[in-house]
Amino acid sequence: MMQIIAWVTSFTLMLLIAAVFGWVALKSREKREYDPIVKKWYKTRKFYGTGLVILMLVVTIYTLRELPYNEPAYGASQEATIVDVEALQFGWNIDQHEFDVGEPVEFRVTSADVNHGFGIYDEDMNLIEQTQAMPDYRNKVYMTFEEPGTYQVLCLEYCGVGHHMMKDEFIVK
Ligand code: CUA
Repeated sequence: MMQIIAWVTSFTLMLLIAAVFGWVALKSREKREYDPIVKKWYKTRKFYGTGLVILMLVVTIYTLRELPYNEPAYGASQEATIVDVEALQFGWNIDQHEFDVGEPVEFRVTSADVNHGFGIYDEDMNLIEQTQAMPDYRNKVYMTFEEPGTYQVLCLEYCGVGHHMMKDEFIVK
């Protein structure tokens, strides 16, 4: 059945293209003034070009607006627990390892040596939050744990022979 549909579709399209070619061939004998046509299409092009730029601007601004760059997931009304995270070859220095369900947490992530990746995994080992841990820079990442359990912290950036040893844990109650 699919084959027949594909065949009929391509045959129809082929006929359509042949018809367009035929029409152009027939019309090519006709003599027309060139200038008005050029003017008309330049105008049209300007119109559609401007329209397209405006449309793209609107779409870009509208979609970028929604990105949560530097925006905590909780409202401004709620105070976050601030936790300093320092990555180093090969381990983590993390201020606090226990959190409450629903408690807004702001991780401030940096590195003592090279680039690392701070990744938080839930109990099914799904990555639920991550940011880069970079020397001389502090990345903020906002997290509100919604389920109690044990969460793994793993390094997401290959940082040397002990990369796989960079593990830590959060307990959420
Ligand atoms: Cu730190 Cu990989």
